[in-house]
Amino acid sequence: MAAYTSIPGSCPVDSASLKQEACIRTTELNEGSSSTSSIDEKEDPFTIQSVLYATGENQGDDDLDADSPQEVIDHSSLLPIPSPPHKHYYGFVGHLADLDPTLPVRTYWHLMDTYNPIFQMDLGMKYPRVFVGSREMVNEMADDSRFIKFTHRLHQEMRAVFGNGLFSAESTSKAWKKAHRLLVPALGDWETRPIGLSKMFDDMQDIATQLVQKWDRYGPDHEIELIGDMSRLTFDTIGLCAYGYRFNQFYSEQPHHFETELKEAIIESGRRANRPDVLNRWWYYKDEEHRQENIVKIRGLCESIIQERIDNPKPDANDLLNVMIHGIDKETGEKLGFDNVCYQIPTLLGGGYETTSSTLSFLYYFLCDTPQALHKAQAEVDEVIGDKVLTYDMLPNLKYLDACIKETLRMQHPVSLLTRFSTKDTVIGGKYFIRKGQMVSGIWRHFHRDKNAWGEDADVYRPERMLDAEFQKMPPNAWKPYGDGLRACIGRGKLTYNRYSRYALY
Ligand code: HEM
Repeated sequence: MAAYTSIPGSCPVDSASLKQEACIRTTELNEGSSSTSSIDEKEDPFTIQSVLYATGENQGDDDLDADSPQEVIDHSSLLPIPSPPHKHYYGFVGHLADLDPTLPVRTYWHLMDTYNPIFQMDLGMKYPRVFVGSREMVNEMADDSRFIKFTHRLHQEMRAVFGNGLFSAESTSKAWKKAHRLLVPALGDWETRPIGLSKMFDDMQDIATQLVQKWDRYGPDHEIELIGDMSRLTFDTIGLCAYGYRFNQFYSEQPHHFETELKEAIIESGRRANRPDVLNRWWYYKDEEHRQENIVKIRGLCESIIQERIDNPKPDANDLLNVMIHGIDKETGEKLGFDNVCYQIPTLLGGGYETTSSTLSFLYYFLCDTPQALHKAQAEVDEVIGDKVLTYDMLPNLKYLDACIKETLRMQHPVSLLTRFSTKDTVIGGKYFIRKGQMVSGIWRHFHRDKNAWGEDADVYRPERMLDAEFQKMPPNAWKPYGDGLRACIGRGKLTYNRYSRYALY
């Protein structure tokens, strides 16, 4: 991707012990927002997760709860939120013209380097958009009596692809509530060791084994295209575990057409959300035609996956498709319905595969760049698994590996911005006024490296800080990779297992 800040070199560490590691091509790794992509996509500055989570527009305060109790605010003690000077057109178009055209989040990063912990920009919304970079302010954003997650213009555009699937449906809608109640227990999380995940473990091993065999057969001198293989791994794993569908991308040089269609549709939806309607309608109509063609193709495959399962039931399949087709919501006594299942298929793939694959790619990068961490992780895998076949029960004993993954998510989070809207006039950081309905975005790259929370070595990759004793001492919301509240990531358990199985196998 053209917009990437490159992390140089193919294999950053050249020690004998690393020779058996695949030589990793990390030049495509990004500074955190849009993270990774395959080599073939260099020209495109967007990736799925940067689009899904990073953009958006304030819808104003009309939809906010009018009954939310008001705060008493002493305006005399407030300070103005700093705002950068306009670089172009004397501010006639606000700060819009100042944004990096290829990767807007890069502008936010640079500005936060200067204005940390807070600044605001006029991006053509009802109120200026506020950005925060400290753990303390992000902690305030987790107070759901003051800040909530809203669907906004981005989600509205995404609905063309994801309909009322989990990502784009309103929290208040029946569709979101039913799907949330059915799918969260099925995916569960690491701590509760849900039955659903243990059942999917064999399928995860199946895909991870394909990857290991591919690398093994190429031999130690072959240069591995890491990012592409991580995408294959995560896309194929979600396909098999969730829908019993094999995309079989380890048997092909090219990505599966469904991945291409999904990626293009998501990226174009993100772009539409950032453009004025008039431009979308009159200038970018060809792009819209292409998006609609992609949506029809996506829908076609989703329908055929569901229909095939209905025509040929597999009661023993350990996947989410059975839960989604046959599961009955305890509260309403209803099923999800064909249409909604059709939307959940691209939703889980879109939300899950690139976030996970970019995390894995960065995990490799950091381990190769930090040999002592790599050796410790390898020693742990040797001790816990040795010559045995990895089993589900071994996973909790891979504690150092878990710390490596957590530290990777801290250092290089695959999503750029954690966005919330204020439910009422409020004050953040003790002195900055936020209006009801104002959009506030925490910048992961900054609040995950806040020195007040993590110490002076916050910019250093040090997995030990994620081990039990030290990790427990961290203040709330210092490490927040999956968001929070009702709309927190539902894939957090699944991806952990996926990564463990992949690492332990290799
Ligand atoms: C390293 C991997 C991942 C990261 C860092 C990640 C991060 C996130 C974040 C930050 C959110 C928004 C939370 C918020 O605003 O509070 C989210 C939502 C979501 N994620 Fe993930 N995610 C990951 C993997 C996955 C996987 C594997 C799946 C599915 C299999 C998934 C499915 C979803 C869905 C469906 C939502 C929307 C939930 C809702 O709004 O109800 N994610 N994720």
